[in-house]
Amino acid sequence: MNERKILVTSALPYANGSIHLGHLVEYIQTDIWVRFQKMRGHTVYYVCADDTHGTPVMLRAEKEGITPEALIARVQKEHLNDFTGFHIQFDHYHSTHSSETRFFSEDIYHKLKQANLISIRAIKQLYDPVKNMFLPDRFVKGECPKCSAKDQYGDSCEACGAAYAPTELKNPYSAVSGAKPIQKSSEHYFFNLSDSRCADFLRYWTCEADHLQSEAANKMREWLGNTGENKLSDWDISRDAPYFGFEIPNAPGKYFYVWLDAPIGYMGSFKYLCEQKQIDFKQFWQKDATTELYHFIGKDILYFHALFWPAMLENSGYRTPTKIFAHGFLTVNGEKMSKSRGTFITAESYLKQDLNPEWLRYYYAAKLNGTMEDIDLNLGDFIARVNSDLIGKFINIASRCAGFITKRFNGKLVDGTQYQQLQTIVDEHFTAWRPTQIENAFEERDYAAAIRQIMKFVDAANEMIHQLAPWEIAKKPELDKELHRACSLGIQLFYLLSRYMKPVIPGTIEKIEYFLNCESLTWPVLSEQQTVSELLLPPGHMINPYQHLMTRIDAKQIDALIAANKQSLSSSDKPGNTEPFTETSQTFAPIAETISIGDFSKIDLRVARIADAEHVQGAEKLLKLTLDLGHEQRTVFAGIKSAYDPQQLKGRLTVMVANLAPRQMKFGLSEGMVLAAGGNHPGELFILSPDSGAQPGMRIK
Ligand code: 2FM
Ligand code: ZN
Repeated sequence: MNERKILVTSALPYANGSIHLGHLVEYIQTDIWVRFQKMRGHTVYYVCADDTHGTPVMLRAEKEGITPEALIARVQKEHLNDFTGFHIQFDHYHSTHSSETRFFSEDIYHKLKQANLISIRAIKQLYDPVKNMFLPDRFVKGECPKCSAKDQYGDSCEACGAAYAPTELKNPYSAVSGAKPIQKSSEHYFFNLSDSRCADFLRYWTCEADHLQSEAANKMREWLGNTGENKLSDWDISRDAPYFGFEIPNAPGKYFYVWLDAPIGYMGSFKYLCEQKQIDFKQFWQKDATTELYHFIGKDILYFHALFWPAMLENSGYRTPTKIFAHGFLTVNGEKMSKSRGTFITAESYLKQDLNPEWLRYYYAAKLNGTMEDIDLNLGDFIARVNSDLIGKFINIASRCAGFITKRFNGKLVDGTQYQQLQTIVDEHFTAWRPTQIENAFEERDYAAAIRQIMKFVDAANEMIHQLAPWEIAKKPELDKELHRACSLGIQLFYLLSRYMKPVIPGTIEKIEYFLNCESLTWPVLSEQQTVSELLLPPGHMINPYQHLMTRIDAKQIDALIAANKQSLSSSDKPGNTEPFTETSQTFAPIAETISIGDFSKIDLRVARIADAEHVQGAEKLLKLTLDLGHEQRTVFAGIKSAYDPQQLKGRLTVMVANLAPRQMKFGLSEGMVLAAGGNHPGELFILSPDSGAQPGMRIK
């Protein structure tokens, strides 16, 4: 086997929020891949770091009355606790607020400047005159320029999906102070992505050189356009003070934008590791390096990793990534994670409730197939699969056979002719157990296929044990030899299966290594001439007494987890956008202009009973409600899908605007509107309910 040298990264989590089950899809995916490659004997380094810079971190620290440095130090500890809890094993976990990341940020910037790829020009931006700061898009709110929905962010509307510039918002206000922003001009630094050197390189790199999954390459084609049709704009890489980040050399008051130094954090983290372990940094980062570099990311940050990042590296004399592996988002029970439903589950709460992290690792592995498709954590299916497959089938093999080996054979597996007979059984009945197929599936990150294959083997092992029925032969002392061979066979098969399972459930495998009295399990390697029995433990191998390896999930534990997360509305949110934001920074919607009682009474508000509620096929945000007003029924399409399950709504009383002009929507006619209080984030929506006793049709005055 040729030893490979591989550097692997996962996206750097923001230092202003907690790790949740959505993040864990990526870290678990990466960790499984890294463990698999390490088991095969390759040299692999897995590095990550906290993504510490930007306005949200600065504002959150200010709100907590601490320095950004104190905040990021605390969050880094929390993140590392979560990762360790889920057996995510980094070779190094760094911070982008580090001397190493600063060094490479400045170095890359200087080289881009030397190559004439940096330009400076003045741009107009919204500015908070009370806080004396420029406002990132996500910190400006106002009415959507297209549909007039209130309290929309400065980049896109959650009601109608329109994308726009913050300056287009109607009645904008600062989400930091509530003040009305003014437009102010300032000089910004740009990376000239529109330069043909970048565009031509990227067209080749993204579409022809096989660095991306095919779905991702298609996206890039869309973004880049055809040759000659340059769709790329220059990238604004600076932000004005006050900002928490690295000041740009010779540009007082100007800072590198967080997304410039974030991927450079991969280099920074690795550099630190190299210093500690005397690893040759250049071997991994110099142009034309023969080592491999892989970035695991979510599909929402492809733009940064497949365009900006390779263009930066290429033009500053470094190597570019071997491949970028993008994955999809996580849904829970088929829907976006939601705080109000309790499905926005933090890593910390999962661990605190004493749920086994390996249940989740196993379930994610069974779902991940290496594409950019979203994966669903269906909680019912989660309980069923873990209990029946992982415990009922896999762990069960050991628990059925181990007791006899300990009690009747002093912990010794068969040797001599008995061992040869065992080998013959394995080579006759388990010829399919060669590693190749599972190995290819892991390599391709199609863990779902790997698990399917392993579970087929598990079924075959159980079938064999069932036929041999050691619990029956144990009743007849004259069949001692058969009993010994049957149980040894079960343990040997369990040993081989454990080697296949190790990348997925390393914590349990550690216990299994102790039980099987084995050194750290490695990946099975077989030449074409060798047979499966050559992968077994040696004759007469001694094992330790069986101790409980894994408990089943009790549905009540999941209920408790959901309940715990329903209350924790202060945990962090990570929307599928690319601008960091903090939910803890207080936002203020200014009170609208005064109206007369006459104006108010024009609105006919009625109590309505939700007679029916259903999902609308193809609608991301809408639920279709049938509202009963006592004497008539109305259909209303309400943008509350992120916060409510239709089943929860049926039969409830709520409040509707009954005299709103009907509106023809894509999905049908909407004959009114239900009222809901809205927070700052998707999913923070609360429909109104009248006090008990109110009847459908009653007017609200
Ligand atoms: O989207 C995010 O959560 C970013 N903090 C990821 C950064 S990845 C890399 F570029 F650092
Ligand atoms: Zn809109």
